[in-house]
Amino acid sequence: MEQYAIKGGNPLVGEVEIGGAKNAALPILAASVMTDETVFIENIPDVRDINVLLKVMKNIGVMVKHNDRHKVTLNASQIRELIVEDENIKRIRASYYLIGALLGKYKYAEVSLPGGCDIGCRAIDQHIKGFRALGAEVCIEHGLIKTKADKLTGAHIYMDMVSVGATINVMMAAVLAEGQTIIENAAKEPHVVDLANFLNSMGANVKGAGTDVIRIKGVTRLHGTEYTIIPDQIEAGTFMLAAAVTKGDVTIKNVIPKHLESISAKLIEIGCEIEESDEAMRVVASKPLQHTHVKTLPYPGFPTDMQPQITVALAVAGGTSIVTESIFENRFKYVDELTRMGASIRVEGNTAIISGNGKYTGASISAPDLRAGAALVIAALSAEGFSTIDDIYFIERGYEDFHLKLQSLGAQIEVVACERDLQKFKLKVS
Ligand code: EPZ
Repeated sequence: MEQYAIKGGNPLVGEVEIGGAKNAALPILAASVMTDETVFIENIPDVRDINVLLKVMKNIGVMVKHNDRHKVTLNASQIRELIVEDENIKRIRASYYLIGALLGKYKYAEVSLPGGCDIGCRAIDQHIKGFRALGAEVCIEHGLIKTKADKLTGAHIYMDMVSVGATINVMMAAVLAEGQTIIENAAKEPHVVDLANFLNSMGANVKGAGTDVIRIKGVTRLHGTEYTIIPDQIEAGTFMLAAAVTKGDVTIKNVIPKHLESISAKLIEIGCEIEESDEAMRVVASKPLQHTHVKTLPYPGFPTDMQPQITVALAVAGGTSIVTESIFENRFKYVDELTRMGASIRVEGNTAIISGNGKYTGASISAPDLRAGAALVIAALSAEGFSTIDDIYFIERGYEDFHLKLQSLGAQIEVVACERDLQKFKLKVS
């Protein structure tokens, strides 16, 4: 089983290039089945969740051709299956985007219930409510969500909570419904906007994405398109935090600074300097980090997908910090691992009380999920001595070449597959 071997202590210095946003690419790839014409998508990240979705799409008959590592051509004119029961599909959350896409186009879909990171109960009632409002019958049987409709008709839908997945799924189904759909209390995340832009580039009529109210006028068909996915806000944020915690100086290139405002604001509060240009952010951490309070919120609030990374920083900052997780109820599982590395954190319900001034020491730890895994890597990079991190497949779900990008910034990190590799790494870096 592969693991990361890390020798901590080097400040990260240099430049790093950010890839396409996983959480935008997933719904955009799914939405590409909504036209029979060819779709060409650029800036696709080469990460596990994307590759699983592409495999599933191939298995139902979508022609998928990689033009290079980050460019893909898709054609869904020969789809043969509207029942998506593939073993792979259960491994990713985004499998459920095929429901909105297939229901919108074919008025029928059966898809295995979604998997994804174990960070909370992750209900899908708002997706179901939205599909039903559009006129679909929905039931859950034998582990599948089954939806069908004679026709879909536009509706006024109020989301009971802000949900990225439900907003995206209902938007996809509504694009080919008859008449107007209004989604109120919609998610405003950059990937929701990116999907709306993609659908519009295929001939859809979606307005208001990025605000609380999305208005969709149904069209009868969508056509082919060429589209470039936005940069990954969370990958960029993760490198920003890696720079902060290792007391480094990193320029993060190919980003949209506006998408990173909540993260930059917190980094400035805790004592980092941020230089922003059109498509880059430089994070310089030359002063000791200071405490702060953080509450995760839907965009434009502080992202839940950055909560473990900021907690790692606050555990070594001066003073007591409080981090409140308001999106998922089970997103502090990594705290036990961080405690083993020397952090002093008490979790009470959805709040972590962090007694700062800590110092990390290397340990053997495991990644409990994608973002927490990345956060533990950051802790290990700033720790005294060696660490090993198991279960790195979680990290590979969402970070392309994570260890290579860190190496290029001066980190001592390698993927090792056996004890011999680990000993070799230790000899090399000691
Ligand atoms: C997306 O998950 C992302 N996943 C998550 O990223 C991200 O953490 C999350 O949005 C929040 O930003 C993908 O894009 C594939 P939600 P999603 O629906 O869509 C509750 C990562 O690390 N809810 O916005 O599943 C739900 O339980 C991953 O890249 C309902 O109650 O999140 C949660 O408490 C992890 N009923 C809250 O809403 C519903 O029908 C927000 O969930 C839907 C959601």
